[in-house]
Amino acid sequence: MINELENNIEYLENKIEKLSSNLATSFYKVIKILKRITETNDKFYESSHSLYVSEKSAQIATELGMSVEDIVEIKIAALLHDIGKINFPEVCIYKFPAEMSDFEYKKYTYHPILGKQFLTPYEYFDNIGEIIYQHHEKLDGSGFPRNLTREQIHIGAKIIAVVDYYHNMLFKKNKQKRENINFSSQYTSIAQYIETTKPLYESTINYLQKKSNILFDSNIVNIFIRIVERDRRALSSKSIARVVSNSLVPGYIFAEDHFTSYGLKIASKGETITKDTILAINQYLAEGEFPNKILILK
Ligand SMILES: [Fe+2]
Ligand SMILES: [Fe+2]
Repeated sequence: MINELENNIEYLENKIEKLSSNLATSFYKVIKILKRITETNDKFYESSHSLYVSEKSAQIATELGMSVEDIVEIKIAALLHDIGKINFPEVCIYKFPAEMSDFEYKKYTYHPILGKQFLTPYEYFDNIGEIIYQHHEKLDGSGFPRNLTREQIHIGAKIIAVVDYYHNMLFKKNKQKRENINFSSQYTSIAQYIETTKPLYESTINYLQKKSNILFDSNIVNIFIRIVERDRRALSSKSIARVVSNSLVPGYIFAEDHFTSYGLKIASKGETITKDTILAINQYLAEGEFPNKILILK
């Protein structure tokens, strides 16, 4: 009798575990769908903005020794940090703040508020919404929308602020790049890419260091700089190759963005290819929505 009861409990426990891990997977997939919606703004970047900010923010949180729950929250908040820009006029998305008129800038400063409002009714999103609300705050109180200072700012928002600044400076298309549609294909080798982007890379890193402890958290800046320097070293050991799309292998990296004929982004430059990516690509290939050969880094 006791044995039977124990077996039943074990059966139920397994079932609940399976159910909750299925739920967690579905939940994460919904987040990914939301991310794809926000990615419609990625045409103004040379690689996926939300994906980059999410991956690097999670890496920083991990190096800070944060708990798995906190890391997941920061990862999701970073994926969705600019969700408040949905439905914004394009000028408030593609321009840098310095290029905006007063009216455009005022509208732009509203996106963290809208982002939080999208998520507010859902209990699980309390912290995530708060991080999104704060992602443009600065240590000295010069940020927006609430001019928060130092300890008032959530650690997740402090992390996203650093990665967001870096990615905007390096990968957001400035006016000149926006007019030159073929900009991303101008690099013929990794060495050339690293050499060409070196001045911008160095000035961005210098700015982060100069504003460390004034605008940005100095510990986060130091960790992030270590990560990007490691990334650039790793990149220099890779090579660009053109491969047949149905022979992709997990670990390859997309060297270009790819969109479907109806404008949905299906591959982001800089994104590492996984088993899931390959499954999705095969489906788009069958529908004739993906090129037969693509450029990758390996
Ligand atoms: Fe933002
Ligand atoms: Fe952003």
